[in-house]
Amino acid sequence: MRAVARHLFVPEVPVEKAYAAEHHYVTKKDEHGVSISSVSAARIQVMMLEQAEVRPGMRVLEIGTGGYNAALLAELVGEGGAVISIDIDQDVLDRARRFLPAAGYGSVTLLRADGEFGAPEHAPFDRIIVTAGAWDIPPAWVEQLAGGGRIVVPLRMRGLTRSVAFEWNNGQLADRGYELCGFVPMQGAGEQRERLIPLHGDDVRLRLDDNQQADGDALRAALSMPRREAWSGTAVGKDIRFDGLYLWMAMRLPDFGLLAATKAAVDRGLVAHSWGLGVPTLLDGDSFAYLTFRATSEAREQFEFGAYGHGPHADVTVEKLVSLIRSWDGTSLGARISAFPAGTPDELLPSDALILARRHTRIAITWPSPPPKLAALPARRAAPNGSNDRK
Ligand SMILES: C[S@@+](CC[C@H](N)C(=O)[O-])C[C@H]1O[C@@H](n2cnc3c(N)ncnc32)[C@H](O)[C@@H]1O
Repeated sequence: MRAVARHLFVPEVPVEKAYAAEHHYVTKKDEHGVSISSVSAARIQVMMLEQAEVRPGMRVLEIGTGGYNAALLAELVGEGGAVISIDIDQDVLDRARRFLPAAGYGSVTLLRADGEFGAPEHAPFDRIIVTAGAWDIPPAWVEQLAGGGRIVVPLRMRGLTRSVAFEWNNGQLADRGYELCGFVPMQGAGEQRERLIPLHGDDVRLRLDDNQQADGDALRAALSMPRREAWSGTAVGKDIRFDGLYLWMAMRLPDFGLLAATKAAVDRGLVAHSWGLGVPTLLDGDSFAYLTFRATSEAREQFEFGAYGHGPHADVTVEKLVSLIRSWDGTSLGARISAFPAGTPDELLPSDALILARRHTRIAITWPSPPPKLAALPARRAAPNGSNDRK
């Protein structure tokens, strides 16, 4: 990170912002205002490079160009390696063509291509790093990967994106861990956008992915009904990651969506709690319930999960949601995510896997590790002094 001058790739941005770990610079939006290209946040780039374990001498394909990440890759692979960076958008490539040589990285090969098909003329690759949100793993990536090679890809599963490191061994893409992230959507042949169901104009919307279904009219009516709530007695400390709960809910609930509300909608009390990307929501026919949490003490050291719901059966729906929360094992990175070719029969998939059917693959998610149980709150209030310790 110190070797590459990041500000040269975002000359529009003040220097202190250019080097801020969480700052990403949007370089292009579509006609609806959706970001479609950016120079990703430095923290996310580092995280993915670490997941990829890029070493000197490797050949690396980057899908989605911004310039800076390709320069980092060039530093990592060194003179004996090769970096090929492809983008579907000529404007993005033109930017990188200006900035990369100026920063001293003229050795990066830039190509206009749809990442769905990789870059066969430059294969095989030891690493493929995908930097746009993908919904599937197209065959070209596997075909162009060297034995033991890795693909790091932000993969969307029921609306939740995780940067998954896959290793190609014995005809299988086995996961080597995953991390939380968000990315601009994949365009081109692999594009698969989510559906947005407005529940209150654009202020409150449901994000639906995969084959998840919702009765928009019924849920719009539900939102105007009184709010119900239920609390799980399950809590986490304030610095503990709980994105694993999101994945658990996404895979375990029969119908799952993400309830996304603007700050204005939350301020007006339309929904009690939400944020831009949405909170996990159980869709239950004419009723729905969404995940929330509350501090268990004034010191706000610990938070208890609960559910708010609306609709004719909201009292039942909120109870269903909290009972699922109680069954979560408390780990954030406890799931295993593997990918198999679409034609793989059930008996060859991991037993008790939850399967997401894609065009080219079947994504199998399991929770193999014995769960370190979350602390259950002794009563309504947390006990003092670290009652959140895991067992
Ligand atoms: C987040 S940006 C890439 C960031 C970049 N890796 C960096 O240095 O920070 C995502 C890019 O993916 C590109 N993209 C989207 N779909 C693509 C596809 N099918 N093939 C190639 N590039 C694609 C977009 O045009 C966009 O420029």
